Amino acid sequence: NKGKYEHYMQKEIHEQPESLTTTMRGRLIRGGSCKAKTVLLGGLKDHLKTIRRSRRIVFIGCGTSYNAALAARPILEELSGIPVTMEIASDLLDRQGPIYREDTTVFVSQSGETADTLNALEYALENGALCVGITNTVGSAIARHTHCGVHINAGAEIGVASTKAYTSQIVVMAMLALAIGGDTISSQARRDAIIDGLFELPSKVREVLKLDQEMKDLAQLLIAEQSLLVFGRGYNYATALEGALKVKEVALMHSEGILAGEMKHGPLALVDENLPIVVIATRDACFSKQQSVIQQLNARKGRLIVMCSKGDAASVTVGGSCRVIEVPQVEDCLQPVINIVPLQLLAYHLTVLRGYNVDQPRNLAKSVTTE
Ligand code: UD1
Ligand code: M6R
Repeated sequence: NKGKYEHYMQKEIHEQPESLTTTMRGRLIRGGSCKAKTVLLGGLKDHLKTIRRSRRIVFIGCGTSYNAALAARPILEELSGIPVTMEIASDLLDRQGPIYREDTTVFVSQSGETADTLNALEYALENGALCVGITNTVGSAIARHTHCGVHINAGAEIGVASTKAYTSQIVVMAMLALAIGGDTISSQARRDAIIDGLFELPSKVREVLKLDQEMKDLAQLLIAEQSLLVFGRGYNYATALEGALKVKEVALMHSEGILAGEMKHGPLALVDENLPIVVIATRDACFSKQQSVIQQLNARKGRLIVMCSKGDAASVTVGGSCRVIEVPQVEDCLQPVINIVPLQLLAYHLTVLRGYNVDQPRNLAKSVTTE
């Protein structure tokens, strides 16, 4: 049931304040005056000790689920101190990459039925790793075959393009990072700030959704383009990949997410006055590096669309002209949840304006159950 919406993708984008609320329900504990704020993931509580002892955490997934894990990787590394590596499920299998008994492997999948991810799970089980699932579908193959896990509880996702599952996956993995990381005195302030940030996330997502019309106007401007680049780094490297995946998947426009740190190692050659480029430059430890990326793109006359934190328009437009998308600021590790929303809206409107099928993009299936 699409309710008041024309398409499932549109409905699922706009329902994110609610889906994020259900994802967190009963799992975040605010704590009384002297009690610490904590996270409780029922499906993991008996396995946390084993996870904390593991030598490595390996995230495994495909498409958007892989991107969600990539978004959560920095905070998991920070809070756990355990090395976190990333695997696209098919590539791990192609290489028969090493997986050890001392590894914790985390399988991220909305459907819980993706063939590549499921095959990688069988492979990790054979190799004796602890297997953790993060899925949206209770009773799915991945939920059943993993040793333990967390349901993201985002509600059924119908549109082939994954939207609300992405943001809920990131939130679950941020909670996973809090659960694995011990609550040492030195990390308490950071943990509290993240938990407060999680509580206010639904209202911040409601705020960023107000950019709908602005994104429709931007889509109108880009309707006839051949290509769109998206530059991001740090917490928002994943946002660049995921934004580009949405645009190519539904709007059938070539789009590439680029790690901004790689700009001079090739992509800069593409920049001219015609190619539109989205640069994600919200406030975090990488902000000044992104400012210099913007300057260098400006020097090549790049057609920039800069996403920045509210009130930062002047700091990102120095020395050039560009379009600006201002988004509400949240705790840095949660910013990818906010930043993807305008790009989801952009992909949605581009698709509708270009006259393509939003919910069933050509050649694609919601659940990829064959290799
Ligand atoms: C569970 C109940 C929820 C109830 C809550 C109350 C289910 C599905 N969930 O939620 O309805 O309100 O307790 O305390 O009945 N699991 C995997 N692999 C996965 C995902 C989950 O093995 O990929 C396992 C978990 O380890 C756990 C079980 O499935 O044993 C349920 O997981 P989850 O729904 O996340 O647990 P709770 O949030 O505690
Ligand atoms: O169900 P899964 O999360 O395992 O699916 C993985 C990918 O097939 C999926 O995310 C795909 O990339 C989406 N259509 C992207 O929107």
